[in-house]
Amino acid sequence: MKISIIGAGNVGSLAAMRIAADGLGDVLLMDVVKGLALGKALDLEDARPLLKSNYSIKGSDDIIQIKDSDIVVVTAGLARKPGMTREELLVKNARILKDVCLKIKELAKAAIVIIVTNPLDIMTFYALKLTDFKPSKLFGMGISLDTARFINLISQELHLPAADIEAQVVGAHGEGMLALPGLAKVKGVSLDKFISEDKIESLISRTVNRGAQIVASLGTGSAFFAPSAAIASIVKTIVKDEKRTIGLCSYLNGQYGIKDSCIGVPCRIGKNGIEQIMELDLSAGQLAQLAKSAAAVAQATAKLFV
Ligand code: NAI
Ligand code: 2OP
Repeated sequence: MKISIIGAGNVGSLAAMRIAADGLGDVLLMDVVKGLALGKALDLEDARPLLKSNYSIKGSDDIIQIKDSDIVVVTAGLARKPGMTREELLVKNARILKDVCLKIKELAKAAIVIIVTNPLDIMTFYALKLTDFKPSKLFGMGISLDTARFINLISQELHLPAADIEAQVVGAHGEGMLALPGLAKVKGVSLDKFISEDKIESLISRTVNRGAQIVASLGTGSAFFAPSAAIASIVKTIVKDEKRTIGLCSYLNGQYGIKDSCIGVPCRIGKNGIEQIMELDLSAGQLAQLAKSAAAVAQATAKLFV
């Protein structure tokens, strides 16, 4: 498998490290900044004897090197800086994404594409329209990160390993995300048997704000350790054809009552990309919130074509 990662910043380079070290394929790291991806790839290569692993990693500033990739991960773009509005980020990253997507379409037509660049849901829908790839082959990473954050906070609250906890977040990768406490379980038992409703509400609010909390603490840039782990987990599921269910920003065409937009929902994935969109039993209020987020994504994406 040839796995290309476009954008060798914090998220891209760490994702490259995890994917290479897990032996998931031949990794190509690419960045427009001259020498950046090559330098990081050389450094990652030097770790092989220390890690006693023979993984393959290359770096380049020439996007032509992504040619015939099986999987392309797009992390190219700016992270939100203090004082930067979402709209500014949207316009700047849309410009970058357009260049990158047209190249993916030209050079790696058969690839499965994972969009990571923010604002995630809009960038995913925009990428789908720019490439005209099948929705099963192009989707975004965001909601699996939010789900991991929710599970982590529950596990900390209960002093239990994360592996004992199941939970699900759906919707937009942003303030509109929808954590689903009714589906959360601890060793198979409903979460509300362990903690009060108020406590659950506070964990949800901390989940929604987790990305912003990290940005505020870092002072510059945004999260990258958990995001890169979320990317590697999706890539592993595809490469190993695990057919696991993971939250992905996916194109919806009627599911959850939503048509022609992209939003985060659980999907079963394997070697061909999304094999099934799982339809959770949501309340009318939850469906309405999902529909509102999806409508905002469609509206913002349409504006990019004006
Ligand atoms: P970063 O600033 O460390 O890296 C971004 C890299 O993209 C830079 O090295 C830059 O040179 C490169 N780049 C810009 N234009 C390019 C182009 N045309 N071709 C190739 N490379 C190009 O940022 P970081 O922290 O790696 O984040 C990257 C993106 O991922 C941001 O938009 C961020 O908001 C988003 N993100 C999304 C998450 C999610 O859950 N979906 C989680 C974390 C970050
Ligand atoms: C996050 O949620 C920035 O999307 C990124 O941390």
